[in-house]
Amino acid sequence: MQVIIESYQRDRPRNFFECGRRPIDNWYKNNSKKCFDRVEYRVFEAIFPATGRVVGYYALQIGNESMAALPSKPADYTKNYTAFPAVHLAFLGVHRECQRKGVGTALLSDVFDKVYQISEIAGMYALTLQSYDEESTAFYSSLGFEPYSDSKASPKMLMPIRTIRALVEGE
Ligand SMILES: CC(C)(COP(=O)(O)OP(=O)(O)OC[C@H]1O[C@@H](n2cnc3c(N)ncnc32)[C@H](O)[C@@H]1OP(=O)(O)O)[C@@H](O)C(=O)NCCC(=O)NCCS
Repeated sequence: MQVIIESYQRDRPRNFFECGRRPIDNWYKNNSKKCFDRVEYRVFEAIFPATGRVVGYYALQIGNESMAALPSKPADYTKNYTAFPAVHLAFLGVHRECQRKGVGTALLSDVFDKVYQISEIAGMYALTLQSYDEESTAFYSSLGFEPYSDSKASPKMLMPIRTIRALVEGE
């Protein structure tokens, strides 16, 4: 399914949106506007061109994560860090009727492009996220994210910035 990914627009209809995970739907419908306005998150939306409707969204935030959270030290240069710099993918959802049609992959490809752009002006170690359940873990694993916490169902996952840069540069 081909989509266009655009920056968040305050007045787009969102009440119909349903990805099937209530916290992700509720944040989008009830909180995204105020979070966007106070620059707490930056939000991007996948639009289906034929209808102009939102079929998916994601939200990014600058973050950091304790080195102690990692099972092993990931790279020599991080040895003096107590926390590693990261961009955090805080929310991601695809409308129920549009799942398993490549929209989530298209949104993540856009995330990689955005994170690449950020890494041109500010350094980081990785893109991080916390998976919601086993299905989303299967999705993120299919894209190359690796778990770094023990939870089987809802692990923290990351992709090093070096991997993202290689992916984007190889496109
Ligand atoms: C997880 C989610 C974003 C994936 O988006 P999507 O558009 O359905 O994903 P894609 O079509 O791009 O899937 C790409 C690949 O990921 C894997 N995948 C996606 N959904 C999966 C699922 N439910 N179970 C197992 N594997 C899955 C598959 O390998 C899939 O390729 P395939 O369809 O050719 O088998 C979407 O299902 C969703 O919104 N789920 C509810 C909200 C949620 O869990 N968000 C993540 C919060 S951390």
